[in-house]
Amino acid sequence: MNIILIGPPGAGKGTQAATLVSERKMVQLSTGDMLRAARTSGTEMGNMVAGVMDRGELVTDEIVIGLIEEQLTTVKAEGGFIFDGFPRTLAQADALGDLLDRVGEKLDTVIQLEVNDEILVDRIVGRAKEAVAAGKEARADDNEESLKIRLMAYYKDTSPLLGYYYAKDLLQQVDGLGTIDAVGADIAKALDSAG
Ligand code: AP5
Repeated sequence: MNIILIGPPGAGKGTQAATLVSERKMVQLSTGDMLRAARTSGTEMGNMVAGVMDRGELVTDEIVIGLIEEQLTTVKAEGGFIFDGFPRTLAQADALGDLLDRVGEKLDTVIQLEVNDEILVDRIVGRAKEAVAAGKEARADDNEESLKIRLMAYYKDTSPLLGYYYAKDLLQQVDGLGTIDAVGADIAKALDSAG
């Protein structure tokens, strides 16, 4: 199955994708992780996107579509792909449809993780505090100021995708407020009903 996990920052996309990778042999394609890896290895692209990411803004469609294209044309996924944090704009959604056609794949379902803003702030600020307490470096965009911009980008650029996938009869909503296991169980049900 090929699925999209869609939801605002802190909704639990990465957390739930990790479970699906271990339980269903799916391959997680997280554009956020790919961009952070490019920054860590100091590539030209990584350096170019650093400031944009730290502010909480979206990087260009061209860059993220290029990253996904590279993965889809080179990686084999026995259990299918999980698109985590991609697509985030209508242009990215159209490009994903074209790319999947090109490699002979299709999208099976889109899972929207629903979590209210207050909880998102708690989770993101909590993650930053946990990192510091563990002696690690917190994500540069895990602070209230960048989170505000990340949320604005979600509501302005990404939320139109909900209607886009609803119209294609692919959208399923999952309550993201329960425990990690409870949310995982609801996602499993949603995948089983789509598969
Ligand atoms: P990205 O890395 O995709 O970040 P994000 O969408 O802001 O999401 P997060 O990773 O913060 O949240 P998540 O939903 O994965 O939640 P998580 O599981 O981590 O993107 C970062 C930046 O890269 C963007 O701002 C942009 O600049 C750029 N970018 C990336 N993709 C792009 C694209 N396609 N186009 C343009 N730009 C792009 O959980 C968060 C916390 O909550 C964790 O501490 C976790 O333990 C906890 N948690 C999770 N689930 C639960 C639960 N059920 N109960 C309690 N705690 C929970």
